[in-house]
Amino acid sequence: MPVSASIEIAPGVHMPRIGLGTHRIGGDVLVRCVHAAMDAIGDAGVLHVDTASCYNNEAAVGDAIESSSFPRERVFITSKIAPKEMGREKTPRAIDGMLSRLRVDALDLLLVHWPAAAKASPDDRAAHRVARRETWDAMERALAAGKCRAIGVSNYTIDHMTELLAHASVKPAVNQIEFHPRCPQREASAFCRERDIAVVAYSPLGVGALIDDAAVKRAAMAFRCAPATCLIAWALRRGVAVLPKSATPERAKENASLERASDAMDAMGDGDGAEKYCWDPSVVR
Ligand SMILES: NC(=O)c1ccc[n+]([C@@H]2O[C@H](COP(=O)([O-])OP(=O)(O)OC[C@H]3O[C@@H](n4cnc5c(N)ncnc54)[C@H](OP(=O)(O)O)[C@@H]3O)[C@@H](O)[C@H]2O)c1
Repeated sequence: MPVSASIEIAPGVHMPRIGLGTHRIGGDVLVRCVHAAMDAIGDAGVLHVDTASCYNNEAAVGDAIESSSFPRERVFITSKIAPKEMGREKTPRAIDGMLSRLRVDALDLLLVHWPAAAKASPDDRAAHRVARRETWDAMERALAAGKCRAIGVSNYTIDHMTELLAHASVKPAVNQIEFHPRCPQREASAFCRERDIAVVAYSPLGVGALIDDAAVKRAAMAFRCAPATCLIAWALRRGVAVLPKSATPERAKENASLERASDAMDAMGDGDGAEKYCWDPSVVR
């Protein structure tokens, strides 16, 4: 089955379906991984890089772009507002900080990283609601000012999304959530699909744990591809974008190949579970 290379997440904003995750990578290693992923993409495509203010690696992403042959318009940059940067005053300052560390005029996609204010207990609903609302309003203003091309959220449950949709002037373009065969997020993705909100799969390899999963290994043998390619294909087949991370340039290159993943997109079964390897936003009220 052919898979489109990108999803139009806002008018004229095309997000590449496969991106490079960068959590816990920085410095020269990150630069080499970005360059390796660019090699896989070749002369025509766009590289999607997923960073965040709390990854402390936006400057290295900027270095990687500056030292590459890819012009700015061939890199799609996502970054995220951290909990400690949420709020009316803090969010605009955080966005300016991102732009200056990345050395770009605008982000392609700006996300709220987590649906909770920093230092408030998970069940402090009032504090989180104010933080979410003020942050989103500031992101809408940044969008209008041309500091980003699209805005969205990450780790939002259906309840958080419903609350946001009730007051947003601009609908979130994406929800970036943990998504893999052990956590297939059927309800969250159906909710997004019905509202034309793109889903972006994070931890698609289960933070590495699924590479050694027996079912994934069997699928990889059957389809004669690497376990990581199987997992990327599994996510692509479900219509989402996917963000595998590797701190190994050869793997970053292998993971970035849409052709390889498309070839592996075959009859891989659906999982039923909700087994998470990352943080769980369902406790945030
Ligand atoms: N919004 C959020 O809250 C959130 C949360 C988590 C993640 N994310 C984003 O999603 C990205 C991916 O998630 P993740 O970093 O949690 O983990 P992941 O991509 O699910 O897994 C990464 C692990 O898989 C290994 N790996 C990668 N490619 C491989 C290959 N071809 N063969 C064998 N092993 C391979 C990596 O090892 P090596 O590095 O040693 O190669 C690493 O240990 C993050 O980097 C970040 O950008 C977002």
